[in-house]
Amino acid sequence: MSSFKVLSMAALVAVASAHSQLIKIQGKAGSPASVGLGVDLNIARNCTTINPCQQDSTIIRDAEIQQNIVNECGRNEIEGNIDIGEKTENAIAAGAVTEAGPGQELTVTLHQVNADGAGPYACDLIEQGNTGIITQNLTVKNNVPGANGFSQEKFKDFEMTVVMPQKFDCTGASTGNICTVRCRNNAQAGPFGGCFPVKQTNKAAQTNNAKTIPTKSNIKAVLAQVAVDQKDFNDAVAANQNAGTAEAKAAAKVIAESNGQVSAAGTFPTQTVSVQLGAAATAPANNNGGNRGNNNAGANRGGNGAGFGGNQRGNKQQKRDILRALRMGN
Ligand SMILES: *[C@@H]1O[C@H](CO)[C@@H](O)[C@H](O)[C@H]1NC(C)=O
Ligand SMILES: *[C@@H]1O[C@H](CO)[C@@H](O)[C@H](O)[C@H]1NC(C)=O
Repeated sequence: MSSFKVLSMAALVAVASAHSQLIKIQGKAGSPASVGLGVDLNIARNCTTINPCQQDSTIIRDAEIQQNIVNECGRNEIEGNIDIGEKTENAIAAGAVTEAGPGQELTVTLHQVNADGAGPYACDLIEQGNTGIITQNLTVKNNVPGANGFSQEKFKDFEMTVVMPQKFDCTGASTGNICTVRCRNNAQAGPFGGCFPVKQTNKAAQTNNAKTIPTKSNIKAVLAQVAVDQKDFNDAVAANQNAGTAEAKAAAKVIAESNGQVSAAGTFPTQTVSVQLGAAATAPANNNGGNRGNNNAGANRGGNGAGFGGNQRGNKQQKRDILRALRMGN
């Protein structure tokens, strides 16, 4: 259902300008480097202009995620919604997924385009890859200098260190052993940042089981999402048609040479966001015990990317409500 997300966010993209990119992430020594999902390394890094230098920087807003406009990795100007699954598979194919085991320190190179791409950045983990479930917060060391996402730095690269937890269980992507790490700052115009894939070293490729996939959906969220999607549908169709015009296509075709620069931190403070660490890894915990009557798969007509398959509460009334709402809405 990510295509619907792309449609509904198209109208928003024009007004967004975003101000940092995750251009290189190095985990275990000798393993490949990852690149931020949706980041195009061919785009110039020596300017602060929206076009080209901000085209691939990512904005990740909780409100947009909740409204089903984007997924948990947000959007950028070139692509709209960052399709985590697609980008991760592309990274696997390109041999560009860094590796990490428990406690591994990841060196994350962040390119700050302009003032509000500054720190502090906070990072978290999606152990199932792209389910929208943030399973743990991560420790960030050597944060990008800044306060409230602002500093006077521009077109400069910073290296921060993101530490993988002692306990985690990556189950994402086709290989079943890839997590997504997400980092974002606290700029009011943002938050800006991005996501990248990490392959778990102490775990072989595995095949997932549909019955053990957890869910984040509940009846309230599902119905709210269906209502928003239905309301937005006509505007989204129009935005999609506009995005196909020659002018819009030309604007999206932004390729310039990369010119990364690394420099010392500026005079802004280096802060650390206080987060709660050590949440139990929630990966493939099967919460569906006893919930055998849940036949909602296939009833998903309302544009619901999260799917209805994992009704953790096994609540029959809840299922009836969902099905009734879908029937009324369609
Ligand atoms: C930025 O880098 C590109 C590619 O190296 C170069 O063509 C361009 O002149 C540079 N622009 C500025 C403002 O330095
Ligand atoms: C991350 O830290 C924040 C701030 O302490 C907390 O509200 C949130 O629940 C934590 N998330 C997880 C997944 O532990």
